[in-house]
Amino acid sequence: MRTRLALAAALLLAASHPAQAGEKVWISLGDAALAQLQKLAVAAQPQASVVPAARLLGDVRDLRAPENVHLVEVDEDQLLQLSGRVHEDLKRCGGFMFHPSKSAGLDALKALQSPTRPQAALAATRPSYVIDQQAVINPMLSQMQASNIGQTIVDLSNYTNRYYTTSGGVNASNWLKSRWTTIANGRSDITVEQFTHASWAQKSVILTIKGTDNGNEVVVLGAHLDSINQSGTSETTRAPGADDDASGVASLTEILRTLVAGNYKPRRTIKLMAYAAEEVGLRGSAEIAKSFANAGTNVVGVMQLDMTNYKGAANDIYIFTDYTDSQQNTFVTNLISTYLPTLKVGTDRCGYACSDHASWNAQGYATSMPFESSFSADNPYIHTVNDTYANTGSQADHSLKFARMALAYAVELGSDGPGTPPPTDKTETFSGSLTLNQTKSFGPFKVKAGGTIKASTTGTGDIDLYVKLGAVPTTSSYGCKSDGSTATESCSLNVTVNSDGYVLLKGYSAGNYKLTVVYRPQ
Ligand code: BES
Ligand code: ZN
Repeated sequence: MRTRLALAAALLLAASHPAQAGEKVWISLGDAALAQLQKLAVAAQPQASVVPAARLLGDVRDLRAPENVHLVEVDEDQLLQLSGRVHEDLKRCGGFMFHPSKSAGLDALKALQSPTRPQAALAATRPSYVIDQQAVINPMLSQMQASNIGQTIVDLSNYTNRYYTTSGGVNASNWLKSRWTTIANGRSDITVEQFTHASWAQKSVILTIKGTDNGNEVVVLGAHLDSINQSGTSETTRAPGADDDASGVASLTEILRTLVAGNYKPRRTIKLMAYAAEEVGLRGSAEIAKSFANAGTNVVGVMQLDMTNYKGAANDIYIFTDYTDSQQNTFVTNLISTYLPTLKVGTDRCGYACSDHASWNAQGYATSMPFESSFSADNPYIHTVNDTYANTGSQADHSLKFARMALAYAVELGSDGPGTPPPTDKTETFSGSLTLNQTKSFGPFKVKAGGTIKASTTGTGDIDLYVKLGAVPTTSSYGCKSDGSTATESCSLNVTVNSDGYVLLKGYSAGNYKLTVVYRPQ
């Protein structure tokens, strides 16, 4: 198996950050990674170790994991000297988490031990996983294009690198903010912000589509903005990160473009996030997830797209089962069989906290991480100069599957919530006949503010049509009229306050009519 990052990233973290000689950093890591570390740095003794609750509870869907987790204080200088050897030795590394202080590390370990979900999570709603938005989702899926995803991958991988401390990393964040702002096209219910991290320069980018009536329930779709070169990343080091993880950010961008083009207005709030500093220990998402938990934000579901454009194994989408929520994973599997029935789905696991979903999982929120391949057959070029768009065949067909699945996830969860669903337009039809100059009125239609009332006729002879709010129209007092020389007429009024709508038909020459009235009822 190819060398994975983990501890190497700790070294790079040490290399990049303006450390004093002998400065220590706190990391937590699993058994396997600790054993590797101890081979290299004899002094690295855990300051604390815990058995995660998932293990004690005998979580049946996760028998092989999680490992015990240890908090270790690591000397940056020593690690730097050993960095070459770590690469060789770490064939499969457990991930690690960086902690700003010993007490933050101890808190993280304590949270792992808790058999119940953390505070914020107890307040988080378990949403309905009923699938019923086919009429909204199917037309949008057909609008989504691999070429758009490919273009965003190219744009992002053109930065020398997107490392969390370099100008490329900073500029890519600013570029994405402006790209998402442009796509949002001035919609007043969409905002794009940067989340500033106190300890490094790259900002995370967060786009919010405010829910129309259940806006305090939030659906999060994320990917990571940063890239890394495992040999060490400085200002001029090439780290295109096309698959890892421009492909995830590009998938989110195509979802946004499609939702805006479809004028989709969610009932819950939907947030798209491009996290800073994932490659150095999930640091951007850890701060964001913590801030949401501290604010008690009701995040009903989280999906992470990290690496979507390299098809390394037989199935199209692998649902990762660790650091994720099994009920939500079943929902995602059902979304795929409903909306993308030709795709083949498998399951696998990282075996450690391999991406930003783990930050949300640590705060007790329900997460999923659909992945491009099985764990062992993933893109071999990640974390090198060769993680390019060309090395995924200069096309984004695989990413498109993930973008479609994630759009279905966003709309199915986004279209729901506890309140009464808004009424949809109601249609009533009437038919009859009119003689010369005969009038006939219809209504009242109890119309709701924010809707419209539209009346239209077909028939024989010549009919004139009038519509008015608040009173029956006359041929001289109306809100709108349609008086062409046939029986085919149509006119419509916007409704700004709840009121009674009325329709008047007049025979200009005798004939039969069919009247259709479409309105939003109160
Ligand atoms: N995209 C990878 C995670 C990944 C790689 C998942 C290959 C599955 C297969 C992510 O960006 C990453 O590199 N994560 C680090 C751990 C993190 C805590 C620094 C890793 O996997 O070593
Ligand atoms: Zn990644």
